Amino acid sequence: MTPSLIATADPHFASAAVAELKKANGQIVDELAPGIWSVQASGDFFALAELWRQNPPIFVRHICPVQTIFSLADGLDDVVETAVTTFTHLLEPEWPFSVQTRILGKLPIKPFDINKPLSEGLAAASGAPLDVRRPFQILSVVLAGDSAYIGLSLAVNNLSDWAGGVRRFAREKGQISRAEFKLLEALEIFKIDLPPRGRALDLGAAPGGWTRVLRQKEQYVTAVDPAWLHPTLQKDKAVRHLRLTAEEYLEDYPDTYDIIVNDMRLDARDSARLMGEYGRYLYPYGMAIITLKLPEKGYESALDHGLNILRQKFTIAGARQLFHNRSEVTVYLTPKSG
Ligand SMILES: C[S@@+](CC[C@H](N)C(=O)[O-])C[C@H]1O[C@@H](n2cnc3c(N)ncnc32)[C@H](O)[C@@H]1O
Repeated sequence: MTPSLIATADPHFASAAVAELKKANGQIVDELAPGIWSVQASGDFFALAELWRQNPPIFVRHICPVQTIFSLADGLDDVVETAVTTFTHLLEPEWPFSVQTRILGKLPIKPFDINKPLSEGLAAASGAPLDVRRPFQILSVVLAGDSAYIGLSLAVNNLSDWAGGVRRFAREKGQISRAEFKLLEALEIFKIDLPPRGRALDLGAAPGGWTRVLRQKEQYVTAVDPAWLHPTLQKDKAVRHLRLTAEEYLEDYPDTYDIIVNDMRLDARDSARLMGEYGRYLYPYGMAIITLKLPEKGYESALDHGLNILRQKFTIAGARQLFHNRSEVTVYLTPKSG
């Protein structure tokens, strides 16, 4: 079987990702590395990509097409040269492009050793501008075993603009927790714009990474957590810290909010139920983000159950297992209309 795409997921959630691929009529050709599969799609890559662009899977984080497979036995220079010849006429010369290389297993080279000569060769031959941060079109290269799998697609086809869905953010001075990346990634992937000077409720806020991100985006934040917030937030007049549990705040006549975020360390179903209770304190045009913490065993049913509870009160606008998620899935919610 010849693969038409490569799919990537967190290896901890491999079984759920494989189930998503099979549901979309994809057949696994080979597991190239933990959580990375070569797959034959029932139509072509672009049919699956369009299906998933409209209705993305939760666990498969990234897909990229395989249009040619080169043997590495011919040497890297040959692979680069043939790839330039093969893909130059397929690139749209007006649109920014990038080359994204992943190397699976042990090879004595780094992605840069391919990205640089290949992108320079393609830019010179096609005239397309190179833009690694905001490419419209991406040439994906995956080296595994003695093969180079290569394919060209639009960034919107790939589920993530980043190679393998690996979205890294620069560490910032003043950063409070790594959890900040989780919220930044969610805002980016779900394309959420926060209202100017909105009112935000952060459930399970301590030590305050998400609150810091919300403050950077000019939100007035009510942070609910029995644990203390980082000292920099305690001094911030636009942060109100209520040292309560989310259950206690519910009994305390909560305000109404533009955005509610919930990163509470709680069982997915309990957290979803509490979130449901908070639904009535969200403005009709508001939005919510929740991380559903999943158990190691039986995570599929815990997630299904959590999502079903949320569905009773909200529209699920998105649900993804993000690069910065650990054993959890991030869900984007909007109020049910009408
Ligand atoms: C993963 S941490 C949140 C990290 C935070 N998002 C950040 O960026 O710093 C989980 C927090 O949930 C809080 N928590 C757990 N159960 C809670 C509850 N019932 N009500 C409020 N907070 C709760 C814990 O005290 C803990 O601080």
